[in-house]
Amino acid sequence: MKPRGKYGIDAPWVPWLWIGIAAVSAAVAVAFGLWGAGWWTVALAWYFVACTVVYLIGAGLYWHASLLGKFAIWDRLLRRVSLSTGDRVLDLGCGRGSVAIMTAIRYPEASVTGIDLWRVGDQSGNSRSAAEANTALNGIGERLAFDTGDMTSLPYPDATFTLITASLSLHNIHTPEGRRMAIQEAVRVLAPGGRVLIVDIQRTREYAAELQRLGLTVSGPTRLGWRSWWTGPWMAATELDAIR
Ligand SMILES: C[S@@+](CC[C@H](N)C(=O)[O-])C[C@H]1O[C@@H](n2cnc3c(N)ncnc32)[C@H](O)[C@@H]1O
Repeated sequence: MKPRGKYGIDAPWVPWLWIGIAAVSAAVAVAFGLWGAGWWTVALAWYFVACTVVYLIGAGLYWHASLLGKFAIWDRLLRRVSLSTGDRVLDLGCGRGSVAIMTAIRYPEASVTGIDLWRVGDQSGNSRSAAEANTALNGIGERLAFDTGDMTSLPYPDATFTLITASLSLHNIHTPEGRRMAIQEAVRVLAPGGRVLIVDIQRTREYAAELQRLGLTVSGPTRLGWRSWWTGPWMAATELDAIR
């Protein structure tokens, strides 16, 4: 299910922040426990023990979602697609290549392109060479190419791709105009009858509205279960499936 290679951690500082908060919370719990000034210090000690556990579980869920959950989810989503010889696939914000490589493995008849700006804050060890190394490890080199570029201004002609995927990348564009431009660009390079699959932790309603405005038929946002909980159900990824 998970291709060979190293795919990093998405926004790698987040789980460490949760571990840091858990450590502070544990220290406060111990302080209240040792204070022993009455029932209320005992109650507060237990409250901070509970907070510590929640933060530790949150960090664990985040690492799970990034290292395993994301791959299980895309494995499920990619099964829905059917591609023929000559079909072209574009992965927006491909990072170290996870979804692009999974697509190229599942559909040997298709050619896949991943585009990214390779921001290291968005994925640890993010680089074109890391994506290419993962591609080589999976033996699909000639069917998968990477381009350095911005998904708000795609360097491809109109109607080029049959399938466009975006995994946890669109929310990294920080302005609504930028996200709208990325969706418009995706639709511009999508062939008639083509499909867009998006997984994201934020703003999938916004993407759905723009896709609908541009004339696509959209299913979702649909929740993806606990494996997509980036710390907890309050940060659950959802998917969109849109057909032109
Ligand atoms: C959280 S990572 C996800 C990477 C990959 N899709 C995955 O699921 O493993 C988000 C990616 O989006 C890329 N990204 C952010 N803004 C971008 C933009 N405007 N154009 C292209 N890529 C972008 C980042 O460099 C990063 O690789």
